[in-house]
Amino acid sequence: MKHFITLTEWTSKELWYLIDLAKHLKFEWVSGGNKPVLAGKILAMVFQKPSLRTRMSFEIAMKQLGGDAIYTSPEEVGLGKRESVADVARVLSSYAQGIMARVFDHNHVIELAEWASVPVINGLSDDEHPCQAMGDMLTIYEHFGHLERLKLAYIGDGNNVAASLWQACAHVGMDFRIASPEGYGLTEEVISQMDEVAERNGGTFKAFVDPVEAVAGADIIYTDTWVSMGQESDTAARIEAMQPYQVNQALLSKAGKYPIVMHCLPAHRGQEITDDVADGPHSVIFPQAENRLHMQKAILVKLMG
Ligand code: CP
Ligand code: NVA
Repeated sequence: MKHFITLTEWTSKELWYLIDLAKHLKFEWVSGGNKPVLAGKILAMVFQKPSLRTRMSFEIAMKQLGGDAIYTSPEEVGLGKRESVADVARVLSSYAQGIMARVFDHNHVIELAEWASVPVINGLSDDEHPCQAMGDMLTIYEHFGHLERLKLAYIGDGNNVAASLWQACAHVGMDFRIASPEGYGLTEEVISQMDEVAERNGGTFKAFVDPVEAVAGADIIYTDTWVSMGQESDTAARIEAMQPYQVNQALLSKAGKYPIVMHCLPAHRGQEITDDVADGPHSVIFPQAENRLHMQKAILVKLMG
């Protein structure tokens, strides 16, 4: 049985298969509807944090594939508080054919997978957001017609989204650049765990402090919030440190190319991204959000089909 916890556990070939499957399911959907390949199957969704895209796209994906999904809010489950992660995993496995969890502690989603007898999907943890990164690969593929040899520049906080993007880029042979303030970059452990995969696929990694250096020659400029869910107590310090990392017209003009601009959303307009960029001609943020749906379908069919 396969889980979708981290892209480090999947092979490059398997992830390319997910991209192909997502393209197929998207085409099938716009051509009149998906076949009910998940008929009779239920996805149990456990959220410790809020969500719009992840919750909606998984629930809608299950329904459009003939199955269904059930949502539990942060207050209801009390994962690891009201009852142990292991008990939640075993109970949900007896009701549902798959579990999707959004957690704080990455170890909780690992522990769920250890105890569950059905596939477990990481719908975001403090460390990683694999579903987002794979949806983003679909969006980039649609725009450029390929992924290999493209250059993605991630600007701002070295967070869960940045980690999964680096992992995805390594798998598909994209060059990954990141610019973060001192102390807010990706950890050495996160960087080095993909070295071999990147080298095999022809992708490279470089970290910068200066965002202008990072965007030079970029095909894709990507940003995310400066204050992720769970970091609220550090808001003032983060906003101050990240001021020079705003994705705005001035930074875009330094790419020397015509890059697309991506943001996983929710956006804090006026902080990590300006309105004119988010809503301007470079932006693909809404097709990007839509593709979460098509990629979730691929993940669900691969794991639960
Ligand atoms: N991008 C993303 O995961 O959005 P939500 O937090 O709304 O699910
Ligand atoms: N890095 C953000 C992503 C939200 C989808 C967070 O963890 O809050």
